[in-house]
Parts: sequence; C-alpha cells; structure tokens
Amino acid sequence: MSEGIVMVHENGVIVTANPVAEQIFGYSQNELNGAMLEDLLPDRYKGRHVNLRQGFNAHPEPRRMGIGRDLTALRKDGTEFPVEISLSYTHVQGQLLVMAFISDITQRKIAEEALKRSEEQLIVYAAELEKKVQSRTEVLNSTIGVLEKEIHERKKAEYEARKSLERERELNDLKSKFVSIASHEFRTPLSTILSSIALVEQYKKKLDLDKIDKHTERVRSSVKQLTSILNDFLSLGKLEEGKVEVVNEVIELPKLLSDIVEEIKNILKEGQRIELNIEHKIFAIVTDSKILRNILFNLLSNASKYSEVNKIIHLSVIKNYSNLLFQIRDEGLGIPEEDQRHLFDRFFRAGNVSHIQGTGLGLHIVKRYVDLLGGTISFESKQNTGTTFSFQFPVKR
Ligand SMILES: Nc1ncnc2c1ncn2[C@@H]1O[C@H](COP(=O)(O)OP(=O)(O)OP(=O)(O)O)[C@@H](O)[C@H]1O
Ligand SMILES: [Mg+2]
Repeated sequence: MSEGIVMVHENGVIVTANPVAEQIFGYSQNELNGAMLEDLLPDRYKGRHVNLRQGFNAHPEPRRMGIGRDLTALRKDGTEFPVEISLSYTHVQGQLLVMAFISDITQRKIAEEALKRSEEQLIVYAAELEKKVQSRTEVLNSTIGVLEKEIHERKKAEYEARKSLERERELNDLKSKFVSIASHEFRTPLSTILSSIALVEQYKKKLDLDKIDKHTERVRSSVKQLTSILNDFLSLGKLEEGKVEVVNEVIELPKLLSDIVEEIKNILKEGQRIELNIEHKIFAIVTDSKILRNILFNLLSNASKYSEVNKIIHLSVIKNYSNLLFQIRDEGLGIPEEDQRHLFDRFFRAGNVSHIQGTGLGLHIVKRYVDLLGGTISFESKQNTGTTFSFQFPVKR
C-alpha cells in the first residue's frame, strides 16, 4: 500500500495511522497516535483547517479534498511536501471517525514540473526554429532574386548578341547582293563608255565633230549613271549603319523645287517635261533639304524612267494641316498589282521593267528617308496608265 491512512476522531485527534502515513510524515511507529490532525499541516493553514474539518463533520461524505488547488502537508522535521487527499468516514459505537487517504505526490509534481519546463523549452525551440527557417527563407529568397536578375541579364545579353549577329549577317547579305547587282549594273555604262571612246577615236580621224559630241555626251551620261548607283549604295550603307541624321534648316521651297526640276531636265527623255504646282501660300519651311532633295530626285527620275517619251510628269505640293503633301504623278507603264506590296523592299523590281536598267534600291532609300522625316509614303498605280506617289511629313512653317 502506497497510501498513507490517518484515522481521526471528530474532535481532530488522530486515533491511528498506518505505517505508510508514519513514513510519509517522518514519524516513528505509533508516534502519531494521539497527535492533533493539524500537526500535519503548515502553520498558515491550521486555523482554516479546523473550520473545514467541523464543516465536514456536520455533513460527512466521501470525497476528494482540495479539488482545483495544491495541498501542502508538513513533515515532522518541518519540511513541506505536496499531497493528494481523499476523505471517507465511518461510525464506531456512535462516534464519527474520519479517514484521510494521503498520497505524497512530490515525485509526480517534480515530473509535472519537468514536463512543463520541457514543454516551455519546446515552445522556445519551436520559436527559434521558426525564426531560423524565416531567416534562411529570407536568405534563400534574396539568393533567388539575385539569380533571377542574373538570368534575366544573361538572357538580355544573349538576345542582344543574337540581334547584333543577325544585323551583321543582314549587312553581309546586303553587301554581297550589292556587289553582284553593282557589277551587273556597272557593265552597261562601262561598255557604253568603252565603245563611245573607241568611236570618238575613229571620228577624230574623220574630223566628224557632231559624232564626237554625241559620244562624249554618252560617256558623260554613263558616268552619271555610275555615280548615281554608287550614291545609292553609299546612302543605303549610311542608313543601315544609322549614320544619317536629320539636319533641319529654313529653306525656300519654291526655289528648292525649281532647282530640282532644272537638274532633272538633264535626264528626262525626249519631249518629257515636269509640271510643277505649289500651293501659293507655301514658301519657307523647316526641314532637311538634302533628304527632301534625294526623295524628290528618286521619285521624279523613276517617273521619267518608267514613262515613254513626250509624257508629262506632275509634281504638286499642298499643305495639309501641319503636313506638307507631295505628289508625283506620271502617265507611264504602271506597276503590276501583284508586285505592288513589295515595292519598298530592297532590290525589288517589278516584273514589267526587266528591260530597263535599275538596282531596285531607290524606293527603299526613299522610304527610309521619309521615315527619318517622321512622314509616310504611299502610291497608287494602274498598269499602262500611270502611277502616283504621295508622301507627307510634318513641318513647322
Ligand atoms: N513611277 C513608276 N512607274 C512604274 N514603276 C515604278 C515606278 N517607280 C518605281 N517603279 C517600280 O518599282 C521598282 C523599284 O523602284 P526603285 O526606284 O526602288 O528601283 P529602280 O528604279 O529599279 O532602280 P534604282 O535603284 O536605280 O532606282 C522599279 O524597278 C519599278 O518596277
Ligand atoms: Mg529608281
């Protein structure tokens, strides 16, 4: 039996105690007999306990003592220890005897304390763990961030490298295409020059000055042709490298246009002429005169080149809000419908012009120049009827 049992008379005197009780409280055999029950309690509880005991005697019932609070008992040597107590009672010869069953719960309390401490420790650990996880997660996240940034940058670099490689390849394509077209296009003017010079030498002997003049003129125009092809190539090269910059200046448009018309007269076919029409209110404008001249020269020379002799070319300029609108209309051979959508592509030439010299670069360059001016270009054409090119760009004045 591990429970101590103390039997108490209703006046509080201990009648007897079992050996376990004696041992728990540190008394020798039978030493408790005749002692007061309150001797087994710390001083601070003694007074109250007398009342409790008398309350129990008035309505005795078997029950546990001190439910919900810790009970403390006193050993003989004055030390205190935790206990659990159940009460019961009996009547012997008309006398009430109360029995207290007492367990020393010191060990249990120690175990409970330890458990509580280790639970608390566990909570502390958990909190620490959570903190650690959080800080590791933060480190991990920032590492991931760095990695993502690096990946992004590498992708960007790769993209850029690929793009510049592509550009380089395109430029190379362009150059080789150019060389093949140039050598082809150079052949005709060069052979004209060669044969004209041979003829000049012949006519020199005969002193046929008219013929000599005719052939010097041929040489001159062939050289001009070569120069113009070379100029186109140079323009394209500069455009491709992004080296062309718009240089704005104030120009007198009517003067610029009549200069161009004058210049183009040299290359017009027999009986061809240019009808110039400028809206009267247009005078000084701000733009890049070299670029504008180049665009107009290209379009006008096409209009002449792809028209018969004696045809008229119309050049008109009108102001359309803040835009200047140029139109170049010819009565020439027109552009086949199926070719129209490629017209601004590099080196593209329509199917109906194979008998006429050209590199197919002019319009591509024109389009890029119009782009540089912040403008747009379009055309309308009907085969064997004529073509109208229109371009417009914004001007300040
Ligand atoms: N006014 C026009 N009438 C008919 N066809 C035209 C006209 N202008 C351009 N084209 C067509 O568009 C093509 C491209 O013109 P583009 O000026 O670019 O090249 P090109 O005149 O053949 O050669 P070049 O580089 O010497 O100007 C021409 O080959 C021709 O088929
Ligand atoms: Mg052309």
